[in-house]
Amino acid sequence: MAKNINTIGVLTSGGDAPGMNAAIRAVVRQALYKGKKVKGIKRGYAGLLDEEIIDMDAKSVSDTISRGGTILQTARCLEFVTPEGQQKGAEICKKHGIDAIVVIGGDGSFKGAQKLAALGINTIGLPGTIDLDIACTEYTIGFDTACNTAMEAIDKVRDTSTSHERCSIVEVMGRGAGYIALWCGLANGAEEVLLPEKYDYDEQRLIEQITDARARGKQHYIIINAEGVGHSQSMAKRIEEATGIETRATILGHMQRGGSPTCKDRVYATTMGAMAVDLLCEGKSNRLVAYKDGKFVDYDIDEALAMTKTIPEYMYEISKSLV
Ligand code: ADP
Ligand code: F6P
Repeated sequence: MAKNINTIGVLTSGGDAPGMNAAIRAVVRQALYKGKKVKGIKRGYAGLLDEEIIDMDAKSVSDTISRGGTILQTARCLEFVTPEGQQKGAEICKKHGIDAIVVIGGDGSFKGAQKLAALGINTIGLPGTIDLDIACTEYTIGFDTACNTAMEAIDKVRDTSTSHERCSIVEVMGRGAGYIALWCGLANGAEEVLLPEKYDYDEQRLIEQITDARARGKQHYIIINAEGVGHSQSMAKRIEEATGIETRATILGHMQRGGSPTCKDRVYATTMGAMAVDLLCEGKSNRLVAYKDGKFVDYDIDEALAMTKTIPEYMYEISKSLV
């Protein structure tokens, strides 16, 4: 029989992402609309174990939809990876009357949600990461904003690169995944994208391409390098030495995680946040909200974590053919 949910907790975990506030707001407002109480858990699982738990009402999320970061703050918590930490977390939930939790984060955070579900706390995960590296979904909260932020920065690098007739390596985030790099490669019309999933470490080929491009009259050469490939500074040095073309490396870093979310991130995060509450009210647990084939859907967390994801081949192909 479906468990009756009275109080829903919400937390953000792992790296923050623009749109997390829109998701929190939707969880809070939809839960209140359905007659539930809401508790905010601060600093992810670390805050749960420290009992940093606050009551939330409709006003607690006023004026937050347009704000980057997460009003609940976030953290990484090693203690929660242990069975003792998870048991303690479940007991704290029970102590505070929390029957269910919405976890906004990435795969690591969902493993935590999976453990809580097994300990009797109903859980729903929302994909919150700029990296787009969650296999079951074609959308993650924050990816669109991060790509737009990186795209605008790369446009600026391109201006100065052209003026100085330089080669520029721009390193974007993504942890082990190359989605931000691929999207920026296409959005910025970069000459080269280096993705951890695809990179062959053939620097000689890259050097020949840069030299050929210069011979054909290209005034700049923009390489978008995913952080999973890394080594942008040393790569720039080697390229400059081999080609004689001035080469600079720019690492965009954490600016990609901040800023006001785009319309898409606000709307999708809002829809997912409301859906998480609806699923809990239907008695569902251990599920992830995802976006697949044009629809918002939900998956069992165990099944979702077993899925794999690959770089879309055609997008990668055209990042090479359109230069
Ligand atoms: P993300 O959620 O973005 O993948 P992390 O991998 O850093 O980020 O995970 C966030 C947090 O989720 C970790 O700090 C930890 O508290 C929790 N977590 C990660 N892996 C596990 C696990 N195997 N079991 C329980 N909790 C986990
Ligand atoms: O997962 C989001 C992300 O920004 C990755 O792109 C990056 O590798 C990592 O987090 C950086 O983590 P931190 O904020 O701990 O430096």
